This record gives sequence, structure tokens and C-alpha cells, in this order.
Amino acid sequence: MPRWPDEPARAVGLRSTDVRFRSERLSEDHNVDDFASGNDALDDWLKRHAHHAAAMNTGRTFVWHSGEDRVVAYFTLAAHRVRRENVARRAGRGSPIEIPAVLLARLALHTNLHGQGLGGELLWDALTRTVAAGSIAAARLIVVDAIDDNAADFYEHHGFLPSPDDPHLLVQKLSDIARSLGIS
Ligand SMILES: CC(C)(COP(=O)(O)OP(=O)(O)OC[C@H]1O[C@@H](n2cnc3c(N)ncnc32)[C@H](O)[C@@H]1OP(=O)(O)O)[C@@H](O)C(=O)NCCC(=O)NCCS
Repeated sequence: MPRWPDEPARAVGLRSTDVRFRSERLSEDHNVDDFASGNDALDDWLKRHAHHAAAMNTGRTFVWHSGEDRVVAYFTLAAHRVRRENVARRAGRGSPIEIPAVLLARLALHTNLHGQGLGGELLWDALTRTVAAGSIAAARLIVVDAIDDNAADFYEHHGFLPSPDDPHLLVQKLSDIARSLGIS
């Protein structure tokens, strides 16, 4: 599959370990067969549904691999919209009732790589790609739909604000992320 010009592959992993991975959009060349993040639903979705979601333009998946196309991490992004009343007040203040957003629908790392800082770097990869997407199609928030309490804690640790009604729905303003990345 040809690579889209606005989706450059990236070298990732260097901030956390001396192992270098390549981050790029999921293609048929990637081998997802032995991907295991510790969460069966997330593993199954990558293996069975990610290509279909891409073909349907309902979810764009990016993967990390170490050169021989064996996938060790992934995340999925989609255009989204969220109601102001459903997000943390601090993030929704000043927004229209329906807020344009990007959904970080899934994010997972192979269990062999947990606990080395790579999950944080995977999130950084997703956030910087989201900020870049927001510079073309405006979005005010990034929304995560945490799969469980543990995932919600991970996102809160990284600055996401939980919804008052649903602790698994967390958001962060793209402008805050851009500022923290030094790109605004
Ligand atoms: C969530 C996941 C990506 C985290 O990856 P990881 O490699 O274990 O985490 P890291 O070592 O990169 O940790 C980065 C930071 O997040 C913190 N962190 C990691 N997991 C956390 C959790 N569950 N709750 C709170 N903080 C957490 C770490 O303490 C670290 O903090 P620091 O940068 O201040 O030192 C990984 O555990 C995973 O893939 N889990 C299964 C799938 C999943 O639950 N996905 C969640 C999204 S739906």
C-alpha cells in the first residue's frame, strides 16, 4: 500500500529503550498474529477488525514494528464529536454544545514491552499525530474511551480529564497538548 504523504513513518522507542521501532499506518504487510497486550478484546480487534475499519474509514490504525513487520504496538484514531455536557467542565468551557474531537479508540503495547516507558511514548505518538490531523481538520478535544479502570488511570496520569458522569470517558484539549509539545 502506498504511504500517504501526510503520514510519515517514524522512528520511535529511542526515548525509552535502546530498541528502535518503526511507527506507520497499518497495512497488509504487517504481521499481527502474535500480538498480545494482556487485553484479549484489544488484541482481537487488531487481528480481526482493524483492516475493515480502515477500509470503511471508521478507524485509522497505526502500528509499531521492529523492522520485520511483526507488530508490537498499535493505536486507532477516528474523527469524533462529543457533547459539552459529557466532558470535564474545564475541558468543555467555552466550547459549542457539540465539540469536534478526535477519538483515540484503542491503544495497546505487547506485554513483553510493558513497564519500560514505551506505553507513554506510544501515547505521545498518537497525540502528536492527532495534533497534526487537527491542523488540517479542526478538532478541539482528544477523547479516549478507556477499556477499564486501569486504562483510565493510565490516561489520567497523562493529563486526561475524566467525565463527571463516566470515569472511562476522558478528554484533553488539543491546544494544551500542542502547547506541552512546544508546537503552538
Ligand atoms: C496501558 C499501556 C499502554 C501502558 O504501557 P506501559 O509500557 O506499561 O507504560 P509505561 O511504562 O510507558 O508508563 C508510562 C507512564 O505511565 C504510567 N502508567 C503506566 N500504566 C499506568 C496505569 N495503569 N495507571 C497509571 N499510570 C500508569 C507509568 O507509571 C509511567 O509514568 P511516568 O512516565 O510518570 O514514569 C500498557 O500497559 C498496555 O498496553 N496495556 C494493555 C492495553 C490497555 O490497557 N490499553 C489502554 C488503552 S484502551
